[in-house]
Amino acid sequence: MDIKEIDRLREEKDFVILAHYYVDGEVQKIADYVGDSFYLSKVATQVSKENILFAGVSFMGESAKLLNPSKHVYMADNTADCPMAHMVTPEQIEEVREKYDDVSVVCYVNSTAEIKALSDVCVTSSNAVKVVKNIPNKKIYFIPDSNLGHYVAEKVPEKEIIFCDGFCHVHKSIDVSLVKEAMKLYPDAPVLVHPECTPDVTALADYVGSTAGILDYATESSSTEFIICTEMGIFFQLTEKNPDKKFFSVGQRQFCPNMKKISLEKVIEVMKNPKEEILLNDDIMEKACIPLKKMLELEK
Ligand code: 13P
Ligand code: SF4
Repeated sequence: MDIKEIDRLREEKDFVILAHYYVDGEVQKIADYVGDSFYLSKVATQVSKENILFAGVSFMGESAKLLNPSKHVYMADNTADCPMAHMVTPEQIEEVREKYDDVSVVCYVNSTAEIKALSDVCVTSSNAVKVVKNIPNKKIYFIPDSNLGHYVAEKVPEKEIIFCDGFCHVHKSIDVSLVKEAMKLYPDAPVLVHPECTPDVTALADYVGSTAGILDYATESSSTEFIICTEMGIFFQLTEKNPDKKFFSVGQRQFCPNMKKISLEKVIEVMKNPKEEILLNDDIMEKACIPLKKMLELEK
C-alpha cells in the first residue's frame, strides 16, 4: 500500500485521520492521531481540517460529529459497530427516571447518539471514576456497561449505583482462569486490565485503566514484562513504545471483530470517494452533545 498516496489524499481532500488503539497497527501508523476514546473525543474538538476520517467504531465517529457539528465525519467502515452500544434501550432509561426523580443517568461513550441524547453525562473508561465522583446526585444509573459500572461503584462507594446489563464480549471473554494461568507462567509480570473486564479479573489487576492508561503504565514501569487484559490492537503501541519489554495476552480471543474491519484499503477508498458520512438529525445533535460536553467539564 502506497503511504505517499494516503498523504497526497489527506492533503488534497483536507482529511485528518483519527484511529483507536484497537485498529490494526498499519492503520495506527498512518493516522494523524491515535488514542483511547477519551483522547480522540477531545482531539475531535481541536482539529482544523474540514473532514475527519474515523478509524474505529461508529459510536466514536458519532461522538466526533456531536462535538464538532460543522465538520464532515466519515467512518473508514460504517458497519464497524460496537454491540455494547446497543445494550440499553430508551425504555429502560425512562423506567429508571420514572422510579427515581433524583437519578443521574451516566452513559459510557460506548453507546448510540440516541442513548446519549437521553442521558445526563457521558464517561469514558479513563475518566468514569472522576466524573461520577463529581456528579452531585447520589443515585446514578450507569449504562450500558455493567463491568465498568461495578468498577466505578467500587471506587466511588458513596454513590448508589443502579446497574445495566450491557457488556463487551471481547473483554468478557478474558476469563479469570486464563489470567491466573498467565500469572503462574509469568509471576513477575504486572497484570494490566481494562475496566470492561469482569470484576473477578479486575480483582487480580496490578493496574486497571483505559487503553491509554495501560500504555502509560507499561511505558513508565520498571518491570520488563506484562500480562495484558484488553483487545490485541494495543500490542502495536505497547511494543512500538517499549521494544525491550515483553507483553503477554491471555487466551486467543482478545480480538474485536468490529475494530478489525478497518483496513488501509478502506481508509484510502473513503478519502478517494467520501460517502460514508455520519449524519444525525438536529434533535439528536442538540441533545446528545450536552452529556458529552458535561463530561469534559466534570472531568477537569
Ligand atoms: P478506551 O476507553 O480505552 O478507548 O476503550 C474503549 C473501548 O472499548 C473502545 O472500544
Ligand atoms: Fe465494543 Fe468491546 Fe469492540 Fe470496544 S472492544 S468496540 S467495547 S465490542
